[in-house]
Amino acid sequence: MTISQTLLERVLSRPFKYLDQVNSTNDTAKAWLAAGAPEGAVVIAGAQTRGRGRHGRSWHTPPDAALALSLILKPPEAFLPRLNMVAALSVYDLARKCGCKNVAIKWPNDILVDGKKASGVLTETVWEGGDSVGAIVGIGVNVRIDFEGSALSVTAISLEDVVERRLDRVQLTEFLLSRFDYWYRRIATPTVFREWRARLVTLNQTIAIDEVKGVAFDVTAEGALLIRDANGRVHQAQAGDPVVMTEERVR
Ligand code: BTN
Repeated sequence: MTISQTLLERVLSRPFKYLDQVNSTNDTAKAWLAAGAPEGAVVIAGAQTRGRGRHGRSWHTPPDAALALSLILKPPEAFLPRLNMVAALSVYDLARKCGCKNVAIKWPNDILVDGKKASGVLTETVWEGGDSVGAIVGIGVNVRIDFEGSALSVTAISLEDVVERRLDRVQLTEFLLSRFDYWYRRIATPTVFREWRARLVTLNQTIAIDEVKGVAFDVTAEGALLIRDANGRVHQAQAGDPVVMTEERVR
């Protein structure tokens, strides 16, 4: 079933905008925030023509094959770093609900299913005169994107490939947003950090990130990754994509 405004109206009890196609739901959400969108409003799209990923990468959202949505939130500034955790926990719950068994969070907020990326999160804060006026949490989930034959098939996966049945994207959207609300209500408690940390597959892996190689041994309360290199020096990564090193590559 394809997503539509009418179908979403039946299940969502929050302000939302559905568009068959946009450049990027994050950009549409930013414009809505500037025009006075309320906390918790969400932009949902059937397809993106210029979906954006982290670190300036592009994000592929073909029609009716994925979830692409952006939430507009206005948490106290101290909790901004936890938005990534809230988003990752919500998608983790979604993948489990669909029946995926082998689900993990790859630091900072990729959801891996059977070791491949099924979802990504792009959180952007909008500042005005040094103060945050809101944040956009963009979530993309691969539902039935066909990666076969593309270079991405090595690293990316769709939920339907794993569960081997048709998934209803309206139901997925409803469940994802309800889990987001669940974790977001707890953003001021230690639970969000604790549960996000507990699902991180990156901890105890030997990784390379930017110029640093070492063991990712912990995360800070703000979500930074702590890495101990071969000389015992501790490095902090705020952002980036850790690459897991095999023994061979470490030497
Ligand atoms: C990443 O892993 O690089 C983050 C990908 C985030 C993609 C989502 S899809 C909905 C929202 N709109 C965008 O343009 N990007 C995010």
